[in-house]
Amino acid sequence: MIQKDTIAAPHTPDRALLDSLDLSRLPRHVAVIMDGNGRWARKRHLPRVEGHRAGIASVRATVETGARLELEALTLYAFSTENWKRPRLEVMTLMALLKEYIRRELASLVKNDISFRVVGQMEGLDPSVQTALTEALRATAHCRGMVFNIALNYSGRAELALAARAIAEDVKAGRLAPEDVDEAAIESRLYTAGLPDPDLLIRTSGEMRISNYLLWQIAYSEIYVTPVLWPDFRARHLLEAIAEYQKRERRYGAVLSEAPIEEEPPRLQPAAVL
Ligand code: FPP
Repeated sequence: MIQKDTIAAPHTPDRALLDSLDLSRLPRHVAVIMDGNGRWARKRHLPRVEGHRAGIASVRATVETGARLELEALTLYAFSTENWKRPRLEVMTLMALLKEYIRRELASLVKNDISFRVVGQMEGLDPSVQTALTEALRATAHCRGMVFNIALNYSGRAELALAARAIAEDVKAGRLAPEDVDEAAIESRLYTAGLPDPDLLIRTSGEMRISNYLLWQIAYSEIYVTPVLWPDFRARHLLEAIAEYQKRERRYGAVLSEAPIEEEPPRLQPAAVL
C-alpha cells in the first residue's frame, strides 16, 4: 500500500502532482539515463567530478521515491562501456563514489526491502568495486521489494552479443534446439531476465539519444526527456515524468481506440474584394 505522506507532504506542489497520478497505472519498470552532471558542474565553475558527486543525492531521491511508489524495478545508467574513454581521474572518482554510495546506503536499501542488482560486466571493474558490489548483492538477495538495477560497465550491444554467445554454446552442447531460439530464449539470457521491460525511459539534460542503453528492453518504452540536469533531479521530476507517461496512449503497434478525427473548424471565407 503506497503511503503518500512518505513521498510528498500534504498541501505541497509535489503532493498535488502525486494526487494527480493514477496509482493503479504506474509504470512497473522505470529506466533512467542520468545525464548532465558535467554541465551542472561547469555552470558552477566546478570540476566535472563535483557534478557526479552532486548526482548521488539525485540517485538517493530517485531510489527512495521509486521504492515508495512500489515500482517493480528501477534501472539507473551509471557507467557505460564507452565511459572508460573519460579522463582517468573522472573514472576513478565515479568508481569511488559508487563504493561510497554502497557503504552509506546499503543498510537503508535492506531496510526498505530493495533488491540491488548489477546490469553489465562486473568482472571488468576494479576488484575493490567488485567486492563492494558483491557485498550489496549478497546483503539484499533476500529483499522482495523494488529491484534497483545499476547499469555499470554496460553496453546494450555487448549484452545482446553475450546472449547470442550463450545461445550458441547451448545449441552446440545440445541443450537448445535451433528452432527454440526465439525472443524468450534471448530475453532469458539478458541481465534483466525475469523483469518486465521498462515502461518509461527517462533521460535528463535534454539530449535525445538512447546511448546504447537497454536496446532490447526498451522496444516499447515511452521516452521522456527532461531539460533538468541530473544533479537537480528530485522526487518531483520523477512524478512529472510519470504524469506525462500516464497521458500517453500505449499501443504496442496496435490500434487501440478509434477516436473520431476532430473536425476542422470551418474556415472563414475571405471577404470578397470589391
Ligand atoms: C552523465 O553526466 C553521468 C554519468 C556518466 C555518471 C552518472 C553517475 C552518478 C550520478 C554517480 C555515481 C552513481 C551511483 C549510482 C552511485 P555527464 O558527465 O555525461 O554530463 P555532461 O553530459 O553534462 O558532461
